[in-house]
Amino acid sequence: MKSFFQLSKLFCTFIIFLKSVNTCHDLHTNFFQHFSSKTPYRYIANYNTSSIEYEGCKPWKIWLVQRHGTRTPGNELDKFVRDRLPKIQEDILNNLSKGTILGELCSFEGIKLWTSHKELDSQKRLTSEGQDELFEFAERLQLRLPTLLDQPYQNTNFLFRYTDTQRTDESAKQFATGLFGRIEVKKVVFTKPLDKDPLLRFYKVCQKWRQNVKKSPSAILEYTKFTLSDIVNTTLSDLSKRLGLNYTLSFKEAKNIYSYCAFETAWEKIKVSPWCSIFSELDFKVFEYSEDLKHYLIDGDKYELTYKQACVLLKNVVEHFDDDKLDSHNGIFYFTHSGTVLKMLGVLGLYKDNDNLRHDNFWEMENRQWRTSKIDAFGSNLIFVLFKCYNDMKILTLHQEKIIRIPGCESDLCSYDTFKKIYQEKLNNCDFNKMCNIE
Ligand SMILES: *[C@@H]1O[C@H](CO)[C@@H](O)[C@H](O)[C@H]1NC(C)=O
Ligand SMILES: *[C@@H]1O[C@H](CO)[C@@H](O)[C@H](O)[C@H]1NC(C)=O
Ligand SMILES: *[C@@H]1O[C@H](CO)[C@@H](O)[C@H](O)[C@H]1NC(C)=O
Ligand SMILES: *[C@@H]1O[C@H](CO)[C@@H](O)[C@H](O)[C@H]1NC(C)=O
Repeated sequence: MKSFFQLSKLFCTFIIFLKSVNTCHDLHTNFFQHFSSKTPYRYIANYNTSSIEYEGCKPWKIWLVQRHGTRTPGNELDKFVRDRLPKIQEDILNNLSKGTILGELCSFEGIKLWTSHKELDSQKRLTSEGQDELFEFAERLQLRLPTLLDQPYQNTNFLFRYTDTQRTDESAKQFATGLFGRIEVKKVVFTKPLDKDPLLRFYKVCQKWRQNVKKSPSAILEYTKFTLSDIVNTTLSDLSKRLGLNYTLSFKEAKNIYSYCAFETAWEKIKVSPWCSIFSELDFKVFEYSEDLKHYLIDGDKYELTYKQACVLLKNVVEHFDDDKLDSHNGIFYFTHSGTVLKMLGVLGLYKDNDNLRHDNFWEMENRQWRTSKIDAFGSNLIFVLFKCYNDMKILTLHQEKIIRIPGCESDLCSYDTFKKIYQEKLNNCDFNKMCNIE
């Protein structure tokens, strides 16, 4: 009899345990797949380093455009994390200690113990995670293309250029160290960065684009509308309730916490940021969509000029590959920013969806191509490799270290002539001043 009671007591405890497991909120398993442009590269890297070989072909030249690796936040987020987030933390904990209805998280311990991260500064500086991203990427690339990349450095075989920022400068240096080693890298000559680089950051000097897209409130109207939509409002009130707050977080506040969760994840390979465990899968998808939508409007193919101006960079690829002078470089490596890489994807016609991203089609676009978590992570890269195959030249394209097919090419390893035909019109109509000047 006694043991029956004990058993049933145990059973009840088990039921209560199950119930609390079912109802309390815990970290979403795939949280790191929704960090948009703050995704650390390690989640999307390709760790297959088998050498890339095509029968009868020899890798001849390489061209890379590379986003810097994981950085620290800029001013706005830095200020939020220092001034506002500790207040939100306090509000959450105050309520808990009062013993009123508790928030719905399984554990508030992480939030209780949280203090701002040691990497935090407002400098947009490359972090140690960012250094690893570039260094290890270069090592993998060298293993894949040994004949091309495993050669001693001479200033005539490789060209390195970066924009005038610490994060691209340091990214270039880490990448070069990955290729040549810590001793040899001291010989590498890096092109002196320009204050405003018309090739690596062309959009900064395209006045018409800046006026009509970048700085135009009407260009991002769809984004503004999304931040005021029903689905965002529900997300914000559910999130605030889950935290036990007696007020609703604003979109900006919640978005900032989401971004900070991504940064802390990027900075720590093992430890999970407590701020990541407050979001549900749907919350992550909503914030990810808001970021995808913003980048789609500013850097994607919503407005023609956005990607059209990237023809200057595409032209540079063709000029480099067409240059058959004996002293031409084997490799060109550019270190720049998200805005450049995304616009380059645009001019190439990659990651296009059948429908525009809008404020009102969040669910319809769930399986979209334009997903910045995949295509615009920290350390994102786009590579062209020119192959010499008997008397034919062929071109291979890699995005995030994975071989991709150019739309219109018959196969992944594409005839270089076909490649040039596909983009002929864009290359021929590439008068940057004409398209960018304000009359
Ligand atoms: C690894 O990469 C090589 C070269 O691109 C490819 O042939 C091979 O199938 C890949 N292996 C795996 C397991 O994906
Ligand atoms: C969502 O909330 C904002 C701010 O409180 C409000 O202006 C907006 O009308 C709400 N949207 C909807 C669809 O109710
Ligand atoms: C929330 O609770 C705090 C502490 O009890 C109180 O001071 C504040 O006025 C409340 N805010 C709202 C909007 O009810
Ligand atoms: C504490 O949480 C409860 C339940 O969500 C809420 O009703 C109350 O207003 C909260 N108090 C504070 C101070 O946030």
